Amino acid sequence: MNDGQLATIAHAVGTPVYVYDAVLIRERYAALAAALTRRFPTHVHYAVKANSNLAILALLQGLGAGADIVSGGELFRVRAAGFAPGAVVFSGVGKTDEEIRDALAAGIGMINVESEAEAERVAALAAAAGCTARIGIRVNPDVLAETHPYTQTGAKGMKFGVPLDRVSVLARRVADHPHATLVCIGMHIGSQIIAGAPYRAGAERLASLVASLRADGITTLEAVDVGGGLGIAYHAGAAVLDPEDFADAVAPLHDATGLPILVEPGRYLVGPAGVLLTRVLFRKQAGGRDFAIADAGMNDLLRPSLYQAIHPIRVVGTAAGASPEEMDVVGPICETGDFLGLRRELAGATAGALLAIEAAGAYGFSMSSQYNSRRRPAEVLVDGDRWGVVRSRERLEDLTAGETATPRWRHEEEAA
Ligand code: LLP
Repeated sequence: MNDGQLATIAHAVGTPVYVYDAVLIRERYAALAAALTRRFPTHVHYAVKANSNLAILALLQGLGAGADIVSGGELFRVRAAGFAPGAVVFSGVGKTDEEIRDALAAGIGMINVESEAEAERVAALAAAAGCTARIGIRVNPDVLAETHPYTQTGAKGMKFGVPLDRVSVLARRVADHPHATLVCIGMHIGSQIIAGAPYRAGAERLASLVASLRADGITTLEAVDVGGGLGIAYHAGAAVLDPEDFADAVAPLHDATGLPILVEPGRYLVGPAGVLLTRVLFRKQAGGRDFAIADAGMNDLLRPSLYQAIHPIRVVGTAAGASPEEMDVVGPICETGDFLGLRRELAGATAGALLAIEAAGAYGFSMSSQYNSRRRPAEVLVDGDRWGVVRSRERLEDLTAGETATPRWRHEEEAA
């Protein structure tokens, strides 16, 4: 994607708009798949939550990826995008009966359970449906990955996964249930992880778990799952987890168990491939600070506000001769926490200038909202020298869809 294309797209579609680079997604998928397949049999399940646009899903499906989903909504999306249900794993700590039933009816590849109660629920719903649930147990391996506290998931006392010392009993219960098969033991230790060590530590724990389950007579395991979490560069020169190092860290799990290793990356595949284009509406000086007020805000890209995440910001097609100035790039939303970048050096960020907020392909649009009754932005896919809108900007009518000012009042006795 070059600046000429970005300017053309902003002009044609308006701003704010997310723009994704299909070529880069293909490259990243190929690099990861190569690093893994060189070392062990594997399957990549793309974590849909990172970017669930149908065009992105269809692209990854076409490359051979399966999907990792966490809701009935994501199941709906992946089916619409053409994923075979058997290539889909269903993760998440709180699945409803409806979601479990729909997943079973679809013939989902595997349901990763995170508690005894959930395992029982899944098995009972499978019995009611007359089928057998393919169950994976997500283990909490008690490893702390160094990343933002909100995206750590593998340490003791967190809501995720089954505590290590409770896995054996649960595995036995699943194995003994006539409507369940235990097919996988897995983990997901967090997101935006840049070191191999926590994966290595988690993989070791999974390996010894698998050994003890086998010693206990469990013979149905088909795979182990090491989750997602591979970190990307949010600024030039930032440390990242190279897919080769990631593969090295988890390979011993295959060596020890002989099982294929499933992975669930989201950010790694799509994060660097997306930019959010926004235009500067106004410049403003106040209290010694200089602001560029953009037409995108925290409803469009929540990460800076929620995690103090730093996304690179640059002026698209910088005007020659403009000198850099320090400014806060803020949105139009009525919250002091509504910023896209603080204390950035930008040259030529005058009113009307086009800014590219980079590394926004993951957890950008997918975490967007209509807060302040702002229509969610458009999304565009670029593939070499062609581009197309893959989600149009919401219309004003979308803001009130499903609402009414005049409820059909009901009373307790009628509802019963
Ligand atoms: N598998 C499971 C079970 C997950 O919960 C997640 C992410 C992934 C895979 C994919 O992780 P990834 O490879 O994308 O790091 N909103 C946050 C990230 C939350 C991640 C939640 N789970 C952010 O914007 O940084």
